[in-house]
Amino acid sequence: MRTKIPIRLGATLLALALASTALADDMEDYRAMFEPLPFLPPIPAGNSMTQKKIDLGAMLFFEPRISASGVISCATCHNPALGWSDRIGRAIGHAGQVGVRNTPTVLNSGFLTSQFWDGREPDLEGQALGPIQADVEMNMTLDQAIARINELTVYRTHFDAAFPGEEDPINAQNVALAIATFERTLNTPNSPFDRFLRGDDQAISDEAKEGMKLFADNGCVACHSGPVMSDGMFHRFEVPGSTDEGRFVVTADEADKFTFRTPTLRNVAVTYPYFNNGSVNDLRDAVNLMGEQMLGHEFSEPELDNLVAFLHTLTGEMPVVAVPALP
Ligand code: HEC
Ligand code: HEC
Repeated sequence: MRTKIPIRLGATLLALALASTALADDMEDYRAMFEPLPFLPPIPAGNSMTQKKIDLGAMLFFEPRISASGVISCATCHNPALGWSDRIGRAIGHAGQVGVRNTPTVLNSGFLTSQFWDGREPDLEGQALGPIQADVEMNMTLDQAIARINELTVYRTHFDAAFPGEEDPINAQNVALAIATFERTLNTPNSPFDRFLRGDDQAISDEAKEGMKLFADNGCVACHSGPVMSDGMFHRFEVPGSTDEGRFVVTADEADKFTFRTPTLRNVAVTYPYFNNGSVNDLRDAVNLMGEQMLGHEFSEPELDNLVAFLHTLTGEMPVVAVPALP
């Protein structure tokens, strides 16, 4: 008997050692399927990032006087306290009008390869002037917005500093450049999942690790890929209660009917409600619907728990932004 114990112990230790290396390799395979979020998105050649431009962009982002009512700013719908979104199903803009789409977060939007649910703008510069003019959002003409900014003398100094050497820097293009530059600073690195990807095994729970495996093994990662977990592509999805034709509105191509750009899943736990019309409040229900429609797969209750635990690890460090004191 006695002689057998060490043998068994030895075998057990060997098995354990093998199992743990197998497990480690396994984890490395999964890690390789994801990308940690960099601290900054790519900065376009035509819009260098300077502190003066960031500061001006922040002022404009919080400036309600570039709306017709004088009370709606970008931050009204992209509220820093609410995950830089609004936590309502569909956005409410000028004169209380309810839009048709859910407000996406602007966090990490500099990493997206197109802007809006239907991808109608290629970049943040192109996006920025849309909401000022949209009648259901801020309802201003650009000329009116520029005139309002011109009335506030303090902006002259800030535009001069942000766009040195320009004769007449207060113009629509520079408004877009400044807002886009500010938005590129709104990133959320160092989430528990990023720390896990960089090698800290303890950064996420066992449930979250199981959720990550389900996410990879079942093919969620096919569309939710890259640093912000969006492939930038358009996919068909039948959202409860929506008649929105999505990308079709932009391209008039039948194949694009009811398709929407894959949204980021970074900070998804704090950017409810979900989907293009904000019709689903609960993350678990959103995951369930994704499984059914995108993958034809019914997840069990424990699997849903694990997937949700995983998605919670994608909440990163919120950017620290001093609310500008406007003149
Ligand atoms: C009335 C609410 C409202 C206001 C005000 C508003 N937005 Fe939005 N924002 C939305 C909605 C709704 C969408 C999605 C619209 C769509 O996809 O057609 C959106 C989309 C975006 C996106 C695209 C994000 C993505 O994931 O595609 C960015 C960036 C953005 N807004 C920035 C801004 C800026 C900058 C301003 C101020 C100039 C602003 N928004 C003002 C509601 C608002
Ligand atoms: C075929 C591509 C594709 C696959 C596979 C896929 N998704 Fe999605 N996902 C999308 C698109 C597109 C949307 C936006 C749908 C809409 O609102 O119209 C989305 C939306 C979501 C949302 C809501 C995000 C928000 O802010 O509104 C969550 C959560 C989500 N997906 C999780 C998952 C999970 C978990 C899986 C795997 C079970 C998965 N997705 C599989 C493309 C995909």
